[in-house]
Amino acid sequence: MRIIRTLPELKVALKALRESHKSIGFVPTMGFLHEGHASLIKQSTARCDATVVSVFVNPTQFGPTEDLSRYPRDLERDQNLCLRLGVAILFMPEAAEVYPTGFCTSISVGPIADVLCGEFRPGHFRGVATVVAKLFNMVQPDLAFFGQKDLQQTAIIRRVVKDLNLPVDILVAPTVREADGLALSSRNSYLSATDRARALGVSRGLFAAEKAFAGGLRDADQLTALARKEMAGADEIQYCRVVDPFTLDTLGGEINRHVALCAAVVIGGTRLIDNILLTPNGENVQFISHLDV
Ligand code: PAJ
Repeated sequence: MRIIRTLPELKVALKALRESHKSIGFVPTMGFLHEGHASLIKQSTARCDATVVSVFVNPTQFGPTEDLSRYPRDLERDQNLCLRLGVAILFMPEAAEVYPTGFCTSISVGPIADVLCGEFRPGHFRGVATVVAKLFNMVQPDLAFFGQKDLQQTAIIRRVVKDLNLPVDILVAPTVREADGLALSSRNSYLSATDRARALGVSRGLFAAEKAFAGGLRDADQLTALARKEMAGADEIQYCRVVDPFTLDTLGGEINRHVALCAAVVIGGTRLIDNILLTPNGENVQFISHLDV
C-alpha cells in the first residue's frame, strides 16, 4: 500500500495504475475508520482492481461552532486497517494541498442541500459537494463508494455527479450497525456511556417504525410519531421525517412507494444521524446499489 500526501505523487501513482488498465475504486473518508468505512472499502476491493481511500477532515464542511478541531483522528489505526483490507493507495493530504492559497470556487447545491441536515448545518453540503468533486478530479475513479448512513449526502453526490456530468459511478452500501442497533459513526467516540444508552433510542425508533410499517401501518405521521417516541431521551430531535430518498421531499399521509425515514438528534452535545428505507411491496431497494460481497 502506498501512503501519499501530495498531489504530484498521487498523479504519478494513478498514472501507473491507469497505464496497466486497472479499474479504480474510491472511498472518500474523514478517517477514524470503523467497520462502516471498512464495508465500503471491501465493496471497492471486491469490484475494482485498485482501491484508493482518502482520509481528509475537510474544514469547509464544518460550521464555525462545529467539531473540526476535535474531530477524532487515529492515522496509525487507519493505515493498518487500509493495509489489512488491501487498499492500493491511502491518500492523506494536508488542508493546504486541497485548498491552496486563493481558493475561492465551490459548488452551490440546490434545495436538497437546504433541507434536513442542511437546515441545521448551513453551508455543510456546499463543503461536502466541493471536496468530493475535487477528490473525484484528483483520483478520477471508475466507481466511488458511499454509505446509506449519510443518506442526504448520497442524494446530493448523485445529484452533483449527474448535474455536472462527472465521469464516475456512485455505489451506495447499507448502514453498518453495532449489535445493539447503533449506527457506526466516528462521532460515537464522543458519547459517554449514559449518552450512548440514550443514543440507542434513535435506531430503536427507526426499527419500531419499520416494524409497524411491515405490519401494515402506512401513515407517515403515525410512523414518525412512533419513532419520535423512542427518541424522546435525546436532548433535541432536530428532525424525524419521511422523505423521498432521492429528492429528499418530505412526505406525509399514506406511503405507497419507496421512502426513507431520516432522523437527526443531539445527545450530550453530539449530533447523530440515522435513517432506514421503507419499501411498501418489499421490492428491491433501488436506493442501495446491491453488491455481491
Ligand atoms: P465520513 O463520515 O468519514 O464517512 C465516509 C463514508 O463512510 C461515507 O460515505 C459515509 O456514509 C460512510 N459511513 C459512515 N458510517 C457508516 C456506517 N455506519 N455504515 C456504512 N457506511 C458508513 O462522509 C464523510 O466522511 C465526508 O462527508 C466525506 C464524504 C469524506 C467528504 O468529506
